Amino acid sequence: MTTALITGATAGIGAAFARRLAGDGHNLVLVARDTERLRVQATELHDRHGIEAEVLTADLSDDKGIAAVEARLGDRRQSVDLLVNNAGFGNKGRYLEVPMADELAMLKVHCEAVLRLTSAATAGMKERGRGGVVNVASVAAFVPRGTYGASKAWVVQFTQGAAKDLSGSGVRLMALCPGFVRTEFHERAGMGTDSIPGWMWLDADKLVATALMDLARGRTVSVPDARYKALMGLVKVTPRGLLGGVTSRTGRRYGPQ
Ligand SMILES: NC(=O)c1ccc[n+]([C@@H]2O[C@H](COP(=O)([O-])OP(=O)(O)OC[C@H]3O[C@@H](n4cnc5c(N)ncnc54)[C@H](OP(=O)(O)O)[C@@H]3O)[C@@H](O)[C@H]2O)c1
Repeated sequence: MTTALITGATAGIGAAFARRLAGDGHNLVLVARDTERLRVQATELHDRHGIEAEVLTADLSDDKGIAAVEARLGDRRQSVDLLVNNAGFGNKGRYLEVPMADELAMLKVHCEAVLRLTSAATAGMKERGRGGVVNVASVAAFVPRGTYGASKAWVVQFTQGAAKDLSGSGVRLMALCPGFVRTEFHERAGMGTDSIPGWMWLDADKLVATALMDLARGRTVSVPDARYKALMGLVKVTPRGLLGGVTSRTGRRYGPQ
């Protein structure tokens, strides 16, 4: 039986990964800050799917939290075969409106934790000659959108580079770039969603199914759904200045996260 470790496993996209991977018979290590919620989720998944679900409480905006997950990923006696770096959040407001502490916490969770956890996991995977890492980025990685977009652009670039360096090792890395997904994300960030057209919303379970298919196919970047593939095609041919104007206006309060 293989084991998957998911950060931000209790809600939204992370919870969808947990449901799907448990359904496929993987044991799980569930990581988030809310211990009670993790315990309830672990019990439900164990009872429904007969898998082992371990709870690991960790705040990934904190060195101690990152170190605890690194230690679990580095434990050679109970190896992790798939890592999903999914934990993340949005900050409401444009540049200079967001408190510096919140910007730095975002970089810690979206970039430093992803770097350290990917490294802790892939070291053992490389030795074993197999394993996978999904780093959850966003389509915001491809447009100018403050610290959030910049942090997700880092995730995409880092993942593509590491995947290249590890090619032929049996270890697969993939950056997952969703558009809008109905989760707790926007409410937690205090962002309104009324102005987002219905067609732009993706379903978390379908997103995860596509992501796992793309990982199996060996893709290093996954943009699930034809709608967002088409939009990202447009983004590529739109002048950067024009793009910045649009995404900066729609960003932070109502734009794609
Ligand atoms: N929803 C979207 O439209 C969308 C679009 C593109 C990309 N994404 C990305 O998808 C990922 C998941 O987002 P989501 O939409 O599923 O959000 P969500 O529903 O708000 O879930 C976020 C999860 O991350 C955990 N988390 C947050 N901060 C954490 C921290 N400091 N340390 C550890 N765990 C933490 C939360 O649990 P606790 O609060 O218990 O820690 C929760 O389990 C994020 O990286 C986000 O940037 C989302």
